[in-house]
Amino acid sequence: MKLAIIGTGYVGLVTGTCFAEMGNHVTCIDIDEQKINNLKQGIIPIYEPGLEDMVKRNFEKGNLHFSTSLKEGMQDAEIAFIAVGTPMGDDGSADLQYVLAVAKQLGQNMDKPMVVVDKSTVPVGTADKVKATIKAELEKRGLNLDFHVVSNPEFLKEGAAVEDFMKPDRVVIGADDEGALEKMRQLYASFFRTHDRFIAMDIRSAEMTKYAANAMLATKISFMNEIANICERVGADVNHVRIGIGSDRRIGYSFIYPGCGYGGSCFPKDVSALLKTADSVGYHPQLIAAVDGVNQRQKHVIVEKIVKRFGENLGGMTFALWGLSFKPETDDMRDAASLVIIEELTKRGAMVKAYDPKAMPEAKKHYFNGNTSISYAEQKYRVLENAEALILLTEWKEFRSPDFGELKKQLKNPIIFDGRNQYNAFKLEEKGFEYYQIGVKGKG
Ligand SMILES: NC(=O)c1ccc[n+]([C@@H]2O[C@H](COP(=O)([O-])OP(=O)(O)OC[C@H]3O[C@@H](n4cnc5c(N)ncnc54)[C@H](O)[C@@H]3O)[C@@H](O)[C@H]2O)c1
Repeated sequence: MKLAIIGTGYVGLVTGTCFAEMGNHVTCIDIDEQKINNLKQGIIPIYEPGLEDMVKRNFEKGNLHFSTSLKEGMQDAEIAFIAVGTPMGDDGSADLQYVLAVAKQLGQNMDKPMVVVDKSTVPVGTADKVKATIKAELEKRGLNLDFHVVSNPEFLKEGAAVEDFMKPDRVVIGADDEGALEKMRQLYASFFRTHDRFIAMDIRSAEMTKYAANAMLATKISFMNEIANICERVGADVNHVRIGIGSDRRIGYSFIYPGCGYGGSCFPKDVSALLKTADSVGYHPQLIAAVDGVNQRQKHVIVEKIVKRFGENLGGMTFALWGLSFKPETDDMRDAASLVIIEELTKRGAMVKAYDPKAMPEAKKHYFNGNTSISYAEQKYRVLENAEALILLTEWKEFRSPDFGELKKQLKNPIIFDGRNQYNAFKLEEKGFEYYQIGVKGKG
């Protein structure tokens, strides 16, 4: 099939590349000229395992194209995917300006029937707005084309995006037209080799499904963070508690790791947008509001431990920090716990020396540009020298089993603050470390 993907970010680039991999003819469109020029030269704007090879392979084969022109990119396309950002607006709701700008352009350029897909995460009712925007533009041009808008929320996880897209747990499609639904079914059929995981529903339910999924996952994290904070205070160990409850199949082991709060480009803004949606229909969701509140507080827990150990004034002190991205296997730092932690430490006069396997260019460019309180090193042991302590934030594999002898040699004090949930298999206290964890008795 011929496809246009509008918005070539994490979701757009992965979506377009995976559809191209399945033999479709795809054009990825973006307004960011530099991004498109780079992609044409094989320079991939994000880090995502497996993506670079797949982009290059399909570009060379001629299955995957890049363009800054929506008019050119949607020529002959049977399906156009809207995959632009829906960031948090000033009032906490999803900002739909990019989605509706694309809808307007689609209406200005459409010259034959097509299916328009909302792949961006958008609040309930957005497909109606997209449809009305396209229709109004077509009417201005005196056209009455048989186009359909469907909802196809994306569930990929950054860090495993290609894998998730190629082997989806489910593909949710919200449609009010049989023909459009059938086209989507055909497009995705090649992704289901063993059994069908295509879930069809009405448009509003599909839009809501994405928010419900993210709110549920965020709830599991905030719940476990609450339990961890209680564990610390009552002399329990959250690692045992987690395993104890996970063994109940109704609860399960996944997504019940405590830590320093969820971040990334989705959970914070989607939880907030869901609250706003509920608000707009006169309902106050108490649980979801608390999930958000718990998460914001959790981002301060590591700093509270540092202040308790070193005092409120951290002037003249340097801290080594491993892990800037909001989770491993990505360079994405949107709403990462590291942002809050670095701000709180430097506000108290501390210097931070940071290392991350992938996110340092992102940190330098978008977050701490010109900030002299933070410096970086290209190798993890190089940030340790003379640091008061090491702060561990992201579960990158290379942090799992470091050289503890080297840590002890380089650090000013053998102190580790661990914001990940890490079973203390290394018995760090026995190795002479002061080891602070989240949710473990005596580590508060
Ligand atoms: N990142 C994820 O893990 C993830 C997962 C599931 C769903 N989503 C949702 O998918 C959507 C996209 O997220 P993302 O992380 O890919 O965003 P992103 O910020 O990485 O990419 C968005 C891209 O859209 C481009 N863009 C903006 N306006 C445009 C226009 N008029 N025409 C063409 N391109 C335009 C931007 O330049 C940017 O490259 C969001 O709604 C997000 O909530 C994201």
